[in-house]
Amino acid sequence: MRLVVTGGAGFIGANFVRTVVREYPSAHVTVLDSLTYAANRASLADLLGEGPGGTARVDLVEADCADAAVTDQLVAELSGPGDAVVHFAAESHNDNSLATPWPFVHSNIVGTYTVLEACRRHDVRLHHVSTDEVYGDLELDEEAKFTPATAYNPSSPYSATKAGADMLVRAWVRSFGLRATISNCSNNYGPYQHVEKFIPRQITNILDGRRPRLYGSGANVRDWIHVDDHNSAVLRILADGELGRTYLIGADGEQSNLQVMQTICELMDVTGTDGDPGFDHVTDRPGHDLRYAIDASATREELGWAPRHTDLRAGLQQTVDWYTANRDWWEPVKARVEARYASTEKVL
Ligand code: NAD
Ligand code: DAU
Repeated sequence: MRLVVTGGAGFIGANFVRTVVREYPSAHVTVLDSLTYAANRASLADLLGEGPGGTARVDLVEADCADAAVTDQLVAELSGPGDAVVHFAAESHNDNSLATPWPFVHSNIVGTYTVLEACRRHDVRLHHVSTDEVYGDLELDEEAKFTPATAYNPSSPYSATKAGADMLVRAWVRSFGLRATISNCSNNYGPYQHVEKFIPRQITNILDGRRPRLYGSGANVRDWIHVDDHNSAVLRILADGELGRTYLIGADGEQSNLQVMQTICELMDVTGTDGDPGFDHVTDRPGHDLRYAIDASATREELGWAPRHTDLRAGLQQTVDWYTANRDWWEPVKARVEARYASTEKVL
């Protein structure tokens, strides 16, 4: 099996690469990543043969997936029956997309177009990794969940570019017979996630002596899934997914942001005092999606997939432990991320 993994130096991509190397020792993995601010070479260092005890198991090509020459050359090398491109590369952070939308249009739309054209030219299987945010949001008090039949209704520049990318993939399947699948997953957490994101931001704020930051009242609901469960579903889809299909991935992990914040504070012994919960409520995100919830029953039933990390509190404890033990991984970028937030965030 030969895989080209775009975005393989980012959060989910790096965890995916690490899983593939562990579970398929004979697989050949090439990571195509432009190493944006969101990437961290250290997430793959041992697999690149760097550092003490590292053994080269993975190739890293530092390039933009919207660079047609490089992408075409890498995709052209895939010709075996199990070979595929797994397309994680994207600008992924909603807050950044509100400040500066262009990189999102470039990477998520032009980048995906370029990957599609390379796969079409060389008749290569593609799995496109997408998000539940393409469906917009749900009311806080409704029972409904997103299903593969839910209409697209994205809210932010980030989710709109991911929706656009999904539509391109669907069009390439129908118009050109491209051998592709799509997955739309809910909010991931786990090791190697950039400290700009909600859960690692709060954990590293506490480790760094800063106060955790909750947008608005914290009533917004996210449907959390451990990154390893997302990636095990992607591997099931690669193995047995029906070409042309969209699969929803989620682990029934709905929690309000306030609940997640309180759990992190409990796990890290942050205790409030009278009138002070121990964290700050800060300026809300403009257009902030209220609630996401995934109905993954079709994926579970058809592919026999099930998440393994179903206890969110235990998963958060494991994540706290990882950030506590891996300060070298996140400390170099922490101050810059917080300075950026400080330029717009006000304590309510
Ligand atoms: P991330 O921001 O941590 O990593 C993205 C990676 O893509 C980085 O390594 C970056 O350098 C690379 N990249 C960006 N633009 C590129 C380009 N033009 N060419 C090559 N590389 C480029 O993101 P993530 O959280 O790991 O998300 C990965 C994918 O999963 C994205 O497509 C995202 O939309 C999707 N997704 C994320 C979540 C989540 O909760 N994080 C949930 C569902 C789907
Ligand atoms: O649903 C899948 C999506 O999940 C992915 O497609 C995105 O790539 C990924 O970033 C994530 O998007 P969110 O916007 O939901 O994630 P984020 O970690 O930015 O925020 C999670 C929630 O926490 C959201 O409601 C905003 C809130 N938040 C975020 C930050 C950074 C806070 O309350 N405080 C914070 O400091």
